[in-house]
Amino acid sequence: MRSVRVAVFPAAGLGTRFLPATKAQPKEMLPLVDRPLVQYVVEEAKAAGIERIVIVTGRGKNAIEDHFDTSFELEKMLEERGKDDLLAIVREVSDLIPVSYVRQKTALGLGHAILQAKDLVGQEPFAVLLGDDIVDSKVPCIGQMMQVYEERGNPVIAIQEVSPSQTQQYGIVAGERETDGIVRITGMVEKPAPEKAPSNLAIIGRYILPPEIFDVLEETRSDSGGEIQLTSGLATLLERQPIDGYLFEGKRYDAGDKLGFLMATVEFALKRKDLGRDFRQYLRTLDLS
Ligand code: UTP
Repeated sequence: MRSVRVAVFPAAGLGTRFLPATKAQPKEMLPLVDRPLVQYVVEEAKAAGIERIVIVTGRGKNAIEDHFDTSFELEKMLEERGKDDLLAIVREVSDLIPVSYVRQKTALGLGHAILQAKDLVGQEPFAVLLGDDIVDSKVPCIGQMMQVYEERGNPVIAIQEVSPSQTQQYGIVAGERETDGIVRITGMVEKPAPEKAPSNLAIIGRYILPPEIFDVLEETRSDSGGEIQLTSGLATLLERQPIDGYLFEGKRYDAGDKLGFLMATVEFALKRKDLGRDFRQYLRTLDLS
């Protein structure tokens, strides 16, 4: 079995839930305190031991490429002004990890976005991380999943419990709970109504996938909205091999959604050594009744 070395970041979606902020800038570049969302997720991958990443971009996503690139003028200016601390912050981003880019010309769904990375991934297992799902955890979420993959050898999908009223926002799995947070998946449904949901276990934006998923996605038909859904591809893969769901340790924020983004902003700011104390003090002055 090969270890997971590469991670794919689909970032070509339109971000309609965050309009108008996402009209001219990528959702993945929205700042959580002072770093763009995508940087947190790339840092998670790096901390888990991922060696290189592939970002799937589309029209209007150049800011993501610029963010992870060197910024000659900015670095020169900071150097000349002796701003060594800021220079270090800027260089840390471009030195983070080797990145390749591929474009998804039309936003035809998450499955289609992942398919664009086929040639850059090659014939090896890979991780997928969605840039708007932020997970705060002691051990990087994708690292926890890589460990499950190494122990069991099956594809791994991150899942979390949601309230029944939320099943319509997620892919929901059916399965049998085993020990240590593993759920042996027996079926998957995309965005079911609460009464049709097989469980309250929702798929979130972290996956460890085998290269066979590319062949499956190539055969997967578009849904009624013209999109190739990853969940449909995974349902087909499940007919061919076992797939594990994993109830990861950590708190996940849907930062592509306004409320989720606000929750993440408040909690991340409160945790910051340089801001937390003052921010907490400020929050105490608010009338929250
Ligand atoms: P989302 O549905 O959360 O993102 O897709 P979206 O489509 O950008 O946002 P909304 O729902 O309109 O607000 C999950 C992930 O898949 C990527 C997105 O960039 C996001 O990271 N994606 C989605 C693609 O790369 N291409 C697509 O065609 C669709």
